[in-house]
Amino acid sequence: MSECLLINLLTIIGCYALICYLYDNLKSPYILIRDYVNQKFFGKKLKSLTERFGKWAVVTGSTDGIGKYYARELARKGFNVVLISRTESKLKAIASEIEKEFGVEVKIIVADFSHGAKIYKTIEDALDNIPIGLLVNNVGHSTPEQGMMFAFSSKELWDVINVNIGAVTELSRYFLLRMQQSGIKGGIVNVSSCTELCPVPHGAIYAASKAYNRSLTLALQYEARRYGIHVQLLSPHFIVTKLNSYSTSIMRGNLFIPDPETYARWAVSTIGRVDKTTGYFWHGVQYAAAKVLPTYIITFLVEVFAPSVVDRLRVL
Ligand SMILES: NC(=O)c1ccc[n+]([C@@H]2O[C@H](COP(=O)([O-])OP(=O)(O)OC[C@H]3O[C@@H](n4cnc5c(N)ncnc54)[C@H](OP(=O)(O)O)[C@@H]3O)[C@@H](O)[C@H]2O)c1
Repeated sequence: MSECLLINLLTIIGCYALICYLYDNLKSPYILIRDYVNQKFFGKKLKSLTERFGKWAVVTGSTDGIGKYYARELARKGFNVVLISRTESKLKAIASEIEKEFGVEVKIIVADFSHGAKIYKTIEDALDNIPIGLLVNNVGHSTPEQGMMFAFSSKELWDVINVNIGAVTELSRYFLLRMQQSGIKGGIVNVSSCTELCPVPHGAIYAASKAYNRSLTLALQYEARRYGIHVQLLSPHFIVTKLNSYSTSIMRGNLFIPDPETYARWAVSTIGRVDKTTGYFWHGVQYAAAKVLPTYIITFLVEVFAPSVVDRLRVL
């Protein structure tokens, strides 16, 4: 009798865990597939991104990698874009490329997010009169190499904190307040990373900043929802961008490590539709697989395998 009770109890626990896991991992793919089928086979028309969020979008960290291709993809979908990044010459070049290719309006703001709180007044002044409905908080930075946290200088660590934590916090605050006060039912995409899932030895500060990003974004979704503002958590795995130039093997790319253009095409198509996504089918598979394992096992595996992926580790 007690054996039967134990088996029933374990079955209930197993089913509960499986349902939670499936809900967590299949909710977003289900919504995306459902929308696709409705459009393709039942002629149901979804609102376009510009119908939903208006004509202007802003992308931070938009002179390279994911941000650059997000800006291009949004322009392709008809948005005028504001590009915010630190290198003026690159900003001008990309602005003119986008204007010529997509016939939209582009504005640029030069700002170095590693300079911390003092830069936001200038950014906000420049944005105040532009009717922005979509913010992509993409800018991100890692230490110059992978390695032990205490092998980096204080400045190198603060750069990561200011860029990865400061920018997403300040700009989410500014835009949520602005959208709430003006009644705009806008959207915010916060670009996190799969490293939000677990502590990452030799990438500790970067992964910790992304765990912050995840927690902040998931909480903001609840705060913003009542005003009709959509907040999306985007958690990519590896993409071939200069952020990963510490690893020759990652920079080679493969099906699981796409180029930023392919990635942005996939990811932009999820905006406004799902709250939480990796943005790319094969990253979704990796994310779901990683979540099967307990956190301490993933962290252990990262520590064991990091030296074989990273060209050079900074150790003491
Ligand atoms: N690549 C991946 O595998 C991966 C995976 C998961 C998550 N992510 C996240 O995706 C986002 C974009 O990463 P990415 O791979 O596209 O990076 P990236 O190729 O290094 O590009 C970063 C962009 O941000 C700009 N930027 C960097 N530091 C800045 C600063 N202090 N102030 C202003 N702009 C600054 C860069 O400007 P410059 O052109 O002047 O350098 C560039 O436009 C980040 O949040 C990153 O954490 C990336």
